[in-house]
Amino acid sequence: MDKVRLGIIGVGGMGCFHADYIKTGSINGLELVAACDIDPEKLTAHPDLKQFSDHKSLIESGEVDAVLIATPHFAHTYIGIDALNAGLHVLCEKPISVHVADCKRLIAAHTNPAQIFAAMFNQRNVPVHIKLKQMIDNGELGEITRVNWIVTDWFRTEAYYSSGSWRATWKGEGGGVLLNQCPHQLDLMQWLFGMPTKVRAFCAIGAKHDIEVEDEVTAYLEYANGATGVFITTTGEAPGTNRLEIAGDRGKVVLENNRICFTRNETLASEFSKTSSECYVGPPTWNIEIPTQPAQMQQHMTITQNFTDAILNGTPLIAPAEEGIKSVELANSMLYSSMKGTTIELPIDNIGYEEMLKGLMATSRYPKVEQKNVNRDMSKSFGK
Ligand SMILES: NC(=O)c1ccc[n+]([C@@H]2O[C@H](COP(=O)([O-])OP(=O)(O)OC[C@H]3O[C@@H](n4cnc5c(N)ncnc54)[C@H](O)[C@@H]3O)[C@@H](O)[C@H]2O)c1
Repeated sequence: MDKVRLGIIGVGGMGCFHADYIKTGSINGLELVAACDIDPEKLTAHPDLKQFSDHKSLIESGEVDAVLIATPHFAHTYIGIDALNAGLHVLCEKPISVHVADCKRLIAAHTNPAQIFAAMFNQRNVPVHIKLKQMIDNGELGEITRVNWIVTDWFRTEAYYSSGSWRATWKGEGGGVLLNQCPHQLDLMQWLFGMPTKVRAFCAIGAKHDIEVEDEVTAYLEYANGATGVFITTTGEAPGTNRLEIAGDRGKVVLENNRICFTRNETLASEFSKTSSECYVGPPTWNIEIPTQPAQMQQHMTITQNFTDAILNGTPLIAPAEEGIKSVELANSMLYSSMKGTTIELPIDNIGYEEMLKGLMATSRYPKVEQKNVNRDMSKSFGK
């Protein structure tokens, strides 16, 4: 194969965003040949592509080697399973599924290593995130002792929540900010720091919007080495903050406004504490702003190119879909902890969580009335 024939399943906001850059020929070796959507109106924007009104007919058509799934999250699981079972390569939007039990079902369908199965964790391509990963993996920070991430710049309006009948409903989406906006940061949390062993969280339901799911979260995490974490997010705060602070034995790193500032201890804090005769001061430090590549808007294209290269040349994946279960487990643990009013030990009781979610789904307002006249320019979502 020298060209991968792709079909996009779900050509709403994100599906069209992917279609636009692929159609311009930006992805070497990838040709967009088909679009699939259950809403016929959405297909009218793609007269140049073969059109399908249900995913099974696309998958069985023989027209595509690979699919990109950009539907609401619950459908990622059953569409992904059908596509993998049919032998297709799959690139799945985040989150790979709504809950851990569904993630396991989806991942279990990936039995053939020759089939490429990737997830759209585009924020792994942000230069400051790549640099942080290198610094942590190279031990530049020493042992990590504390992580705080305030990510409150995911502001969303009521118009956004009414722009899709599935949005912010238990039955249509399975959660709120943790399942829609924060899968990116939750993925980065596990990518950079690994998984915690315990989670205690407080999630406010519809605190800032007329929605039935969480739009405000404060979570406390504990890691196996004794490190602690705090994760705070909301879609109801403006202007909001995006500030990650990491404390390590070798110093402190702050990532904010796309800059990494490293206050580096000349001596490890633990060693200084044991050996210094000083009572009130820490070790001498250097202040360093870590140089990185400029921020770029090609985060998604890089994942799509990498997916194509993995199919054509065996290039290792930036974001294997199997890793997507971890961010879902973090999101589920936070919701579970808040609903049960207790600390959750990981791995989560995924069947218990699924049961709880089913109970919430039974109370859901889904489907909501969808508002058509809203500004759906997706690039404003990740263009900050
Ligand atoms: N990676 C990113 O930066 C990013 C950004 C936004 C959204 N997303 C993800 O993309 C996905 C879609 O989000 P969106 O904002 O584009 O939603 P959307 O509502 O704008 O689009 C979803 C589309 O899927 C179609 N659809 C629903 N069920 C289907 C099915 N069974 N088969 C075929 N089509 C179906 C709908 O008709 C709609 O056109 C979500 O999972 C979301 O988390 C990712």
